[in-house]
Amino acid sequence: MDDLRSKYLPLIAEAADEAALEDLRVQAVGKKGEISLKMRELGKMTPEERQVAGPALNALKDEVHSALAAKKAALADAALDARLREEWLDVTLPARPSRQGTVHPISQVTDEVSAIFANLGFSVAEGPQIESDWYNFDALNIPGHHPARGEMDTFYMHRDEGDNRPPHVLRTHTSPVQIRSMQEHGAPIRIICPGRVYRSDYDQTHTPMFHQIEGLAVDKDISMANLKWCLEEFAAAFFELDHIEVRFRASHFPFTEPSAEIDFRCSWVDGQLKLGEGDDWLEAGGSGMVHPKVLAAGGIDPEVYQGFAFGLGIDRLAMLKYGIPDLRPFFDSDLRWLKHYGFVPLDRPDLTRGLSA
Ligand code: PHE
Repeated sequence: MDDLRSKYLPLIAEAADEAALEDLRVQAVGKKGEISLKMRELGKMTPEERQVAGPALNALKDEVHSALAAKKAALADAALDARLREEWLDVTLPARPSRQGTVHPISQVTDEVSAIFANLGFSVAEGPQIESDWYNFDALNIPGHHPARGEMDTFYMHRDEGDNRPPHVLRTHTSPVQIRSMQEHGAPIRIICPGRVYRSDYDQTHTPMFHQIEGLAVDKDISMANLKWCLEEFAAAFFELDHIEVRFRASHFPFTEPSAEIDFRCSWVDGQLKLGEGDDWLEAGGSGMVHPKVLAAGGIDPEVYQGFAFGLGIDRLAMLKYGIPDLRPFFDSDLRWLKHYGFVPLDRPDLTRGLSA
Protein backbone atom coordinates (compact mmCIF):
# COMPACT_ATOMS: atom_id res chain seq x y z
CA MET A 1 0.00 0.00 0.00
CA ASP A 2 2.84 2.33 0.74
CA ASP A 3 4.27 1.49 -2.69
CA LEU A 4 0.96 2.42 -4.32
CA ARG A 5 0.78 5.66 -2.36
CA SER A 6 4.32 6.67 -3.23
CA LYS A 7 3.74 5.68 -6.85
CA TYR A 8 0.50 7.54 -7.50
CA LEU A 9 0.59 10.67 -5.34
CA PRO A 10 3.70 12.15 -7.02
CA LEU A 11 2.39 11.17 -10.48
CA ILE A 12 -0.89 12.92 -9.78
CA ALA A 13 0.89 15.99 -8.46
CA GLU A 14 2.93 16.22 -11.65
CA ALA A 15 0.17 15.44 -14.20
CA ALA A 16 0.55 17.87 -17.06
CA ASP A 17 -3.09 18.15 -18.06
CA GLU A 18 -6.57 16.76 -17.58
CA ALA A 19 -6.01 13.88 -20.01
CA ALA A 20 -2.92 12.68 -18.11
CA LEU A 21 -4.86 13.00 -14.88
CA GLU A 22 -7.70 10.91 -16.26
CA ASP A 23 -5.22 8.21 -17.31
CA LEU A 24 -3.87 8.11 -13.77
CA ARG A 25 -7.38 7.87 -12.35
CA VAL A 26 -8.13 4.85 -14.53
CA GLN A 27 -4.80 3.22 -13.68
CA ALA A 28 -5.24 3.69 -9.92
CA VAL A 29 -8.92 3.67 -9.02
CA GLY A 30 -10.68 2.80 -12.30
CA LYS A 31 -12.63 -0.47 -12.51
CA LYS A 32 -9.46 -2.44 -13.24
CA GLY A 33 -7.12 0.01 -11.50
CA GLU A 34 -4.35 -1.20 -9.23
CA ILE A 35 -6.05 -0.05 -6.02
CA SER A 36 -9.42 -1.44 -7.14
CA LEU A 37 -7.83 -4.85 -7.80
CA LYS A 38 -6.31 -4.76 -4.33
CA MET A 39 -9.76 -4.08 -2.87
CA ARG A 40 -11.01 -7.23 -4.57
CA GLU A 41 -8.31 -9.28 -2.86
CA LEU A 42 -9.88 -8.35 0.50
CA GLY A 43 -12.34 -11.20 -0.10
CA LYS A 44 -9.61 -13.76 0.04
CA MET A 45 -8.20 -12.57 3.37
CA THR A 46 -8.94 -13.83 6.82
CA PRO A 47 -11.30 -11.64 8.82
CA GLU A 48 -8.40 -10.46 10.99
CA GLU A 49 -6.29 -9.45 8.01
CA ARG A 50 -9.29 -7.79 6.43
CA GLN A 51 -9.93 -5.70 9.53
CA VAL A 52 -6.52 -4.12 9.11
CA ALA A 53 -6.24 -4.02 5.32
CA GLY A 54 -9.84 -2.89 4.58
CA PRO A 55 -9.79 0.54 6.31
CA ALA A 56 -6.21 1.15 5.16
CA LEU A 57 -7.12 0.46 1.52
CA ASN A 58 -10.20 2.62 1.78
CA ALA A 59 -8.12 5.40 3.23
CA LEU A 60 -5.66 5.08 0.37
CA LYS A 61 -8.48 5.16 -2.17
CA ASP A 62 -9.91 8.31 -0.56
CA GLU A 63 -6.49 9.86 -0.50
CA VAL A 64 -5.99 9.18 -4.22
CA HIS A 65 -9.46 10.52 -5.00
CA SER A 66 -8.86 13.77 -3.16
CA ALA A 67 -5.43 14.14 -4.75
CA LEU A 68 -7.09 13.72 -8.17
CA ALA A 69 -9.78 16.28 -7.34
CA ALA A 70 -7.28 18.76 -5.98
CA LYS A 71 -5.07 18.41 -9.06
CA LYS A 72 -8.05 18.78 -11.35
CA ALA A 73 -9.00 22.06 -9.67
CA ALA A 74 -5.40 23.25 -9.84
CA LEU A 75 -5.21 22.49 -13.56
CA ALA A 76 -8.48 24.39 -14.19
CA ASP A 77 -7.16 27.38 -12.24
CA ALA A 78 -3.93 27.33 -14.20
CA ALA A 79 -5.85 27.16 -17.48
CA LEU A 80 -7.98 30.14 -16.46
CA ASP A 81 -4.88 32.07 -15.41
CA ALA A 82 -3.27 31.35 -18.76
CA ARG A 83 -6.37 32.50 -20.61
CA LEU A 84 -6.63 35.67 -18.60
CA ARG A 85 -2.99 36.39 -19.28
CA GLU A 86 -3.43 35.74 -23.01
CA GLU A 87 -6.67 37.67 -23.43
CA TRP A 88 -5.47 40.63 -21.47
CA LEU A 89 -6.51 43.91 -22.96
CA ASP A 90 -5.34 47.38 -22.14
CA VAL A 91 -8.59 49.32 -22.15
CA THR A 92 -6.70 52.56 -21.62
CA LEU A 93 -5.23 52.38 -25.14
CA PRO A 94 -6.62 55.03 -27.53
CA ALA A 95 -9.17 53.92 -30.17
CA ARG A 96 -7.88 52.96 -33.63
CA PRO A 97 -6.95 56.19 -35.34
CA SER A 98 -7.89 55.41 -38.93
CA ARG A 99 -11.52 55.33 -40.05
CA GLN A 100 -12.43 52.10 -41.81
CA GLY A 101 -14.60 53.68 -44.47
CA THR A 102 -16.81 56.62 -45.31
CA VAL A 103 -20.41 57.16 -46.32
CA HIS A 104 -20.69 58.05 -50.01
CA PRO A 105 -22.07 61.54 -50.70
CA ILE A 106 -25.00 59.95 -52.58
CA SER A 107 -25.96 57.92 -49.52
CA GLN A 108 -25.43 60.93 -47.29
CA VAL A 109 -27.64 63.19 -49.42
CA THR A 110 -30.29 60.47 -49.80
CA ASP A 111 -30.41 60.20 -46.01
CA GLU A 112 -30.52 63.97 -45.61
CA VAL A 113 -33.37 64.39 -48.12
CA SER A 114 -35.26 61.47 -46.57
CA ALA A 115 -34.88 62.97 -43.08
CA ILE A 116 -36.29 66.29 -44.28
CA PHE A 117 -39.29 64.81 -46.06
CA ALA A 118 -39.95 62.34 -43.24
CA ASN A 119 -40.25 65.41 -41.04
CA LEU A 120 -42.89 66.74 -43.47
CA GLY A 121 -44.88 63.50 -43.21
CA PHE A 122 -43.63 61.65 -46.29
CA SER A 123 -42.67 58.00 -46.10
CA VAL A 124 -40.05 56.30 -48.25
CA ALA A 125 -41.13 53.99 -51.10
CA GLU A 126 -39.04 51.92 -53.47
CA GLY A 127 -39.47 50.17 -56.79
CA PRO A 128 -37.49 47.96 -59.17
CA GLN A 129 -34.66 49.32 -61.31
CA ILE A 130 -35.57 46.99 -64.17
CA GLU A 131 -39.00 48.25 -65.01
CA SER A 132 -41.69 47.29 -67.45
CA ASP A 133 -42.42 49.54 -70.41
CA TRP A 134 -45.88 50.17 -68.97
CA TYR A 135 -44.72 51.45 -65.57
CA ASN A 136 -41.84 53.48 -66.95
CA PHE A 137 -43.80 55.06 -69.79
CA ASP A 138 -47.46 54.25 -70.58
CA ALA A 139 -48.77 54.59 -67.03
CA LEU A 140 -47.05 57.97 -66.88
CA ASN A 141 -48.86 59.15 -69.98
CA ILE A 142 -45.81 58.76 -72.17
CA PRO A 143 -47.25 57.24 -75.34
CA GLY A 144 -45.28 55.14 -77.78
CA HIS A 145 -44.19 57.99 -80.01
CA HIS A 146 -42.84 60.24 -77.22
CA PRO A 147 -39.19 61.29 -77.72
CA ALA A 148 -38.31 60.13 -74.17
CA ARG A 149 -38.70 56.61 -75.51
CA GLY A 150 -36.02 57.08 -78.13
CA GLU A 151 -33.17 54.57 -78.02
CA MET A 152 -30.86 57.53 -77.42
CA ASP A 153 -31.91 57.86 -73.77
CA THR A 154 -33.32 54.54 -72.70
CA PHE A 155 -31.51 51.30 -72.01
CA TYR A 156 -33.64 48.42 -73.23
CA MET A 157 -33.30 44.91 -71.84
CA HIS A 158 -32.53 42.02 -74.14
CA ARG A 159 -35.48 40.44 -75.90
CA ASP A 160 -35.41 36.99 -77.49
CA GLU A 161 -35.86 36.90 -81.22
CA GLY A 162 -39.52 36.61 -82.13
CA ASP A 163 -40.59 38.02 -78.75
CA ASN A 164 -42.74 40.98 -79.71
CA ARG A 165 -43.73 42.10 -76.25
CA PRO A 166 -42.41 45.53 -75.29
CA PRO A 167 -38.94 45.08 -73.77
CA HIS A 168 -38.28 45.88 -70.14
CA VAL A 169 -36.12 48.94 -69.56
CA LEU A 170 -33.67 50.19 -66.97
CA ARG A 171 -35.97 52.78 -65.43
CA THR A 172 -35.20 56.23 -66.80
CA HIS A 173 -36.68 58.01 -63.77
CA THR A 174 -38.15 57.25 -60.34
CA SER A 175 -41.65 58.25 -61.52
CA PRO A 176 -42.80 54.62 -62.06
CA VAL A 177 -42.67 54.26 -58.26
CA GLN A 178 -45.53 56.81 -58.14
CA ILE A 179 -47.73 54.35 -60.02
CA ARG A 180 -46.66 51.33 -57.97
CA SER A 181 -47.22 53.18 -54.70
CA MET A 182 -50.66 54.49 -55.72
CA GLN A 183 -51.66 50.98 -56.77
CA GLU A 184 -50.44 49.54 -53.49
CA HIS A 185 -51.66 52.15 -51.01
CA GLY A 186 -54.36 54.19 -52.79
CA ALA A 187 -55.17 57.75 -51.69
CA PRO A 188 -54.41 59.77 -49.69
CA ILE A 189 -50.69 59.16 -50.04
CA ARG A 190 -47.48 61.04 -49.31
CA ILE A 191 -44.26 59.39 -50.38
CA ILE A 192 -40.74 60.02 -51.57
CA CYS A 193 -38.87 57.47 -53.67
CA PRO A 194 -35.09 57.75 -53.81
CA GLY A 195 -33.22 55.47 -56.16
CA ARG A 196 -31.03 54.70 -59.12
CA VAL A 197 -32.10 55.60 -62.63
CA TYR A 198 -30.44 55.05 -66.00
CA ARG A 199 -30.00 57.03 -69.19
CA SER A 200 -27.50 56.69 -71.96
CA ASP A 201 -25.54 59.87 -71.33
CA TYR A 202 -21.97 60.67 -70.25
CA ASP A 203 -20.17 63.96 -69.56
CA GLN A 204 -19.05 66.09 -66.61
CA THR A 205 -22.55 66.28 -65.15
CA HIS A 206 -24.11 63.11 -66.60
CA THR A 207 -23.43 59.44 -65.98
CA PRO A 208 -25.41 56.51 -67.40
CA MET A 209 -26.50 55.62 -63.88
CA PHE A 210 -27.55 58.39 -61.54
CA HIS A 211 -29.98 59.04 -58.69
CA GLN A 212 -33.29 60.78 -58.37
CA ILE A 213 -35.73 61.36 -55.60
CA GLU A 214 -39.37 61.42 -56.49
CA GLY A 215 -42.05 63.06 -54.37
CA LEU A 216 -45.79 62.40 -54.53
CA ALA A 217 -48.65 63.77 -52.46
CA VAL A 218 -52.25 62.90 -53.33
CA ASP A 219 -55.30 64.00 -51.39
CA LYS A 220 -58.62 65.79 -51.93
CA ASP A 221 -57.29 69.31 -51.59
CA ILE A 222 -53.69 69.38 -52.82
CA SER A 223 -52.52 72.41 -54.82
CA MET A 224 -49.42 73.88 -56.46
CA ALA A 225 -49.15 76.10 -53.35
CA ASN A 226 -48.59 73.00 -51.20
CA LEU A 227 -45.95 71.83 -53.66
CA LYS A 228 -44.12 75.13 -53.56
CA TRP A 229 -44.19 75.30 -49.76
CA CYS A 230 -42.82 71.75 -49.49
CA LEU A 231 -40.01 72.55 -51.91
CA GLU A 232 -39.13 75.76 -50.07
CA GLU A 233 -39.10 73.97 -46.74
CA PHE A 234 -36.96 71.25 -48.28
CA ALA A 235 -34.48 73.62 -49.93
CA ALA A 236 -33.96 75.71 -46.78
CA ALA A 237 -33.47 72.62 -44.62
CA PHE A 238 -31.21 70.89 -47.14
CA PHE A 239 -28.91 73.83 -47.79
CA GLU A 240 -29.07 74.72 -44.09
CA LEU A 241 -30.31 78.28 -44.71
CA ASP A 242 -33.15 80.28 -43.13
CA HIS A 243 -34.99 80.60 -46.41
CA ILE A 244 -34.56 79.87 -50.09
CA GLU A 245 -36.82 81.33 -52.72
CA VAL A 246 -38.18 78.73 -55.10
CA ARG A 247 -39.32 79.73 -58.57
CA PHE A 248 -41.61 77.76 -60.84
CA ARG A 249 -40.84 77.96 -64.54
CA ALA A 250 -43.48 76.76 -66.97
CA SER A 251 -42.48 73.44 -68.47
CA HIS A 252 -43.88 70.26 -69.87
CA PHE A 253 -43.92 66.68 -68.62
CA PRO A 254 -46.41 64.16 -69.95
CA PHE A 255 -47.25 63.03 -66.42
CA THR A 256 -48.02 66.42 -64.86
CA GLU A 257 -50.43 69.18 -65.80
CA PRO A 258 -49.58 71.94 -65.23
CA SER A 259 -45.84 71.27 -65.13
CA ALA A 260 -43.09 73.41 -63.66
CA GLU A 261 -39.34 73.38 -63.58
CA ILE A 262 -38.05 73.99 -60.05
CA ASP A 263 -35.43 76.77 -59.68
CA PHE A 264 -33.62 77.91 -56.53
CA ARG A 265 -32.49 81.51 -56.12
CA CYS A 266 -28.70 81.82 -56.25
CA SER A 267 -25.76 83.91 -57.39
CA TRP A 268 -22.39 83.18 -58.91
CA VAL A 269 -19.58 85.25 -57.48
CA ASP A 270 -16.16 84.60 -59.03
CA GLY A 271 -17.34 81.21 -60.16
CA GLN A 272 -18.53 80.42 -56.62
CA LEU A 273 -22.15 79.40 -56.24
CA LYS A 274 -24.09 81.08 -53.45
CA LEU A 275 -27.54 79.70 -52.79
CA GLY A 276 -30.48 81.65 -51.39
CA GLU A 277 -29.51 85.11 -52.59
CA GLY A 278 -28.67 86.89 -55.85
CA ASP A 279 -30.20 87.40 -59.26
CA ASP A 280 -29.61 83.99 -60.72
CA TRP A 281 -31.62 80.79 -60.69
CA LEU A 282 -30.42 77.23 -60.38
CA GLU A 283 -32.36 74.46 -62.00
CA ALA A 284 -33.12 71.72 -59.48
CA GLY A 285 -35.74 69.42 -60.98
CA GLY A 286 -39.20 68.95 -62.43
CA SER A 287 -42.62 69.06 -60.83
CA GLY A 288 -46.30 69.65 -61.36
CA MET A 289 -49.83 68.51 -60.61
CA VAL A 290 -50.24 64.80 -61.29
CA HIS A 291 -51.98 64.26 -64.64
CA PRO A 292 -55.48 62.75 -64.27
CA LYS A 293 -54.47 59.87 -66.54
CA VAL A 294 -51.58 59.07 -64.18
CA LEU A 295 -53.87 59.05 -61.15
CA ALA A 296 -56.21 56.74 -63.04
CA ALA A 297 -53.32 54.43 -64.00
CA GLY A 298 -52.50 54.26 -60.27
CA GLY A 299 -56.11 53.27 -59.54
CA ILE A 300 -57.09 56.62 -58.03
CA ASP A 301 -60.20 58.52 -59.10
CA PRO A 302 -59.08 61.86 -60.60
CA GLU A 303 -62.56 63.29 -60.08
CA VAL A 304 -62.08 63.02 -56.31
CA TYR A 305 -58.35 63.32 -55.81
CA GLN A 306 -55.52 65.44 -57.09
CA GLY A 307 -51.87 65.59 -56.21
CA PHE A 308 -48.47 67.03 -56.83
CA ALA A 309 -45.28 65.28 -57.87
CA PHE A 310 -41.68 66.32 -58.20
CA GLY A 311 -38.37 64.81 -59.19
CA LEU A 312 -35.00 66.02 -57.93
CA GLY A 313 -31.51 64.85 -58.89
CA ILE A 314 -29.72 63.49 -55.83
CA ASP A 315 -26.30 63.57 -57.49
CA ARG A 316 -26.84 67.19 -58.48
CA LEU A 317 -27.92 68.12 -54.95
CA ALA A 318 -24.78 66.44 -53.62
CA MET A 319 -22.56 68.29 -56.09
CA LEU A 320 -24.16 71.65 -55.22
CA LYS A 321 -24.17 71.25 -51.45
CA TYR A 322 -20.72 69.76 -51.11
CA GLY A 323 -18.99 71.61 -53.95
CA ILE A 324 -18.10 68.54 -56.01
CA PRO A 325 -17.35 69.67 -59.55
CA ASP A 326 -17.48 66.44 -61.57
CA LEU A 327 -20.09 63.67 -61.40
CA ARG A 328 -18.04 60.92 -63.04
CA PRO A 329 -15.67 60.19 -60.11
CA PHE A 330 -18.74 59.55 -57.92
CA PHE A 331 -18.78 56.08 -59.40
CA ASP A 332 -15.08 55.34 -59.86
CA SER A 333 -14.61 53.80 -56.38
CA ASP A 334 -11.37 55.75 -55.99
CA LEU A 335 -10.46 55.49 -52.31
CA ARG A 336 -8.80 58.92 -52.28
CA TRP A 337 -11.99 60.53 -53.61
CA LEU A 338 -14.13 58.59 -51.15
CA LYS A 339 -11.91 59.63 -48.24
CA HIS A 340 -12.02 63.25 -49.31
CA TYR A 341 -15.74 63.58 -50.02
CA GLY A 342 -17.12 60.80 -47.79
CA PHE A 343 -18.86 61.21 -44.44
CA VAL A 344 -18.18 59.75 -41.01
CA PRO A 345 -20.34 56.62 -40.75
CA LEU A 346 -21.50 57.30 -37.20
CA ASP A 347 -22.87 60.79 -37.94
CA ARG A 348 -26.29 60.07 -39.37
CA PRO A 349 -28.24 63.04 -40.79
CA ASP A 350 -30.68 64.29 -38.22
CA LEU A 351 -32.80 67.45 -38.39
CA THR A 352 -32.36 68.36 -34.74
CA ARG A 353 -28.59 67.97 -34.62
CA GLY A 354 -28.00 69.47 -38.06
CA LEU A 355 -27.98 67.48 -41.27
CA SER A 356 -24.29 67.45 -42.12
CA ALA A 357 -22.84 68.25 -38.70
N1 PHE B 1 -39.52 62.18 -63.99
C1 PHE B 1 -39.07 63.48 -64.40
C2 PHE B 1 -37.66 63.33 -65.00
O1 PHE B 1 -37.00 62.38 -64.73
C3 PHE B 1 -39.03 64.44 -63.25
C4 PHE B 1 -40.37 64.76 -62.72
C5 PHE B 1 -40.92 64.03 -61.69
C6 PHE B 1 -41.12 65.80 -63.25
C7 PHE B 1 -42.18 64.31 -61.18
C8 PHE B 1 -42.37 66.10 -62.76
C9 PHE B 1 -42.89 65.37 -61.75
O2 PHE B 1 -37.22 64.16 -65.74
